[in-house]
Amino acid sequence: MSVTIARPQSLRGEIIAPGDKSVSHRAIMFNALSHTGTASVTNFSPGADCTSTVEIMRSLGIEITRESGRNGMGDSLTVKGVGLNGLQEPASVLDAGNSGTTTRLMSGILAGRDILTILTGDESLKSRPMGRVVEPLTQMGASISGRANNTLAPLVFHGGLLHGTSYEMPVASAQLKSCLLLAGLRADDTTTLTQPAESRDHTERMLSAMGVSISKSGLDLVLEPSDLETVDIEVPGDISSAAFWMVAGVCHPDAELLIRNVGTNPTRAGIITALQMMGADLTLHDERQVAGEPVADVLVRSSQLHGIELSGDIVPLLIDEIPVIAVAAAVAEGQTVVRDAEELRVKESDRIQASVSWLNGAGVEAIGTSDGMIVPGDNTIGGGQFQSYDDHRLAMSLGIAGLISADPITILDPDVAGISYPGFWQTIEDFGGLIG
Ligand code: S3P
Repeated sequence: MSVTIARPQSLRGEIIAPGDKSVSHRAIMFNALSHTGTASVTNFSPGADCTSTVEIMRSLGIEITRESGRNGMGDSLTVKGVGLNGLQEPASVLDAGNSGTTTRLMSGILAGRDILTILTGDESLKSRPMGRVVEPLTQMGASISGRANNTLAPLVFHGGLLHGTSYEMPVASAQLKSCLLLAGLRADDTTTLTQPAESRDHTERMLSAMGVSISKSGLDLVLEPSDLETVDIEVPGDISSAAFWMVAGVCHPDAELLIRNVGTNPTRAGIITALQMMGADLTLHDERQVAGEPVADVLVRSSQLHGIELSGDIVPLLIDEIPVIAVAAAVAEGQTVVRDAEELRVKESDRIQASVSWLNGAGVEAIGTSDGMIVPGDNTIGGGQFQSYDDHRLAMSLGIAGLISADPITILDPDVAGISYPGFWQTIEDFGGLIG
């Protein structure tokens, strides 16, 4: 299957960002571990990744109900907590699909339990590095085995008694941090993590709202073992999904888009900073708090962008948005340089290689480096037919490129967008961008 996208005359209107993927995973997992009853989770992410988490939790004996949302909002779920030690041994292998977040966070939940569990996923997931969670969990006392000397899924969790740890994280990864904090809840002593840089902090915020003693000093996190109290969660809109429309709005020559209900947590909002650094006409409106997370409506208008350098501490704050930032970089004036982003090589695809490859195919002389890319800028993006690399964010970045390119862009296997944003192509169609 394929879709072909061409630039519409204008791009004007309102979009509601779908529920945040990171917050949705956590809302289900953490409430399942609470010992105080049933929680409601509203505006749940419609993506397949979060459904993988729901199905895994059900296989572990958690009662979850799910109803379709109304008025453009995501589904409403209820989750009945069973306490930290209440998970049941599943009858089969647990399938995380394409979801790295499910795999790494569930690893922290499954480690050291007296039930046997096996966690696996699709081809992409089975190639992603899991040694980063297996190694510290093993140091905490867990018994875990996996392919390639315990570095690749399927992962098998056998049991073990978990001890507190003091761990210096080698990568600024929210998935690794969250995994170890979740294991730390059931450990016999304090868990202390030192982060090399800030990464998304939804886990810290949610655990703290659930009554866990978790403190932060600089980049160090200290967590005491603790039970969890149920918390109802209204999931904010996903800034990583909204980012596609932000880039479309600032790059299209006749655009004004209002993106409603966007989560603007500072540890996720690097895309807003980056686009503003590039000279984007992007403003926040009706800033508010939803379930302990900042939310705003984001207004973007056609802008004359210029190239920037993205490196250092901002990179983890926009790591998922770099493929679509590459689209903006191609049409900006002057070159954009991305450094310190080697993590892109181990996402759902090698996002450096994939981005550079399609940009080159569309006539943009981008160059890949070991930890990023150089995009020359001042380009017209040409048309052509491109693969989606089995990566939702690559497929959608190509869709946005099609909304601003000189000639139509055809994207093969576009359905992969459903991993995080099943309604994406419908919105492109609503804007008049879908021609085939
Ligand atoms: C996520 C963290 C990020 C991000 C992923 C979701 C999370 O991964 O790329 O899409 O929900 O914790 P890393 O923490 O491994 O960088």
